[in-house]
Amino acid sequence: MRKKIVAGNWKMNLDYNEGLALFSEITNMVKDEITGKQQAVVCSPFIHLHSLVQMAKGYDKVSVGAQNAHQAESGAYTGEVSAKMLKSVGVEYVILGHSERRQYFGETNELLAKKTDTALANDLKPIFCIGETLQERESNVHFQVIKDQLIEGVFHLDAANFAKLVIAYEPVWAIGTGVTASSDQAQEIHAFIRKEIAAKYNQQVADDTTILYGGSCNPKNAPELFAQADIDGGLIGGASLKSRDFVDILRVFNA
Ligand code: 13P
Repeated sequence: MRKKIVAGNWKMNLDYNEGLALFSEITNMVKDEITGKQQAVVCSPFIHLHSLVQMAKGYDKVSVGAQNAHQAESGAYTGEVSAKMLKSVGVEYVILGHSERRQYFGETNELLAKKTDTALANDLKPIFCIGETLQERESNVHFQVIKDQLIEGVFHLDAANFAKLVIAYEPVWAIGTGVTASSDQAQEIHAFIRKEIAAKYNQQVADDTTILYGGSCNPKNAPELFAQADIDGGLIGGASLKSRDFVDILRVFNA
């Protein structure tokens, strides 16, 4: 049975104290309110990570993730943070290939394949993001774009390593816009992703892969999105900055 996950991507928000305060609210609410097997993952800026990992001890339903990691093991890369460094402070997950990294920092599928390898080699679990722009959807090339992102970004992995990934489908046109993909649109792409995984590996690997939806997901639209057969949770931006909203989204999976 694949895992149900709701991951919060804080992006470049919250100073140190604000981040710790939000995380403390989240852990307390999760402890009191979450009754299922779903997992919360909080992906904060680097400066919070060490403290959040300490605070998460004893809360097995809350994990901590980073938002990026460099492709090299170490070296002269001023300003960068390595996968090994993240692992050394106890980080469990790392978002790779977010569309903002692709768009503003020029991250290509080729680069992301290297980042994925390095993250896995350091025992981190990548949350690998894929998704099309509005222009690509309107030109009807969105299936091909997503297929290419999979082939070039992660399909070089063997099945055992692929099984360590979480995939996140985030249509770029839905991110931070308040325009959510309809549950039918999201399900259509999620089913396509799972079909591609089955074709590349096998049905078991496909059935075991957690595929998250991201893009203006909130407590109102999450129940319908998460009710779809191939949507296993969410990658949440704006709504993850409010403990009540984030935990309400997580509660959708309550037993
Ligand atoms: P929003 O939920 O703010 O649209 O952001 C989604 C996202 O980019 C999560 O990674």
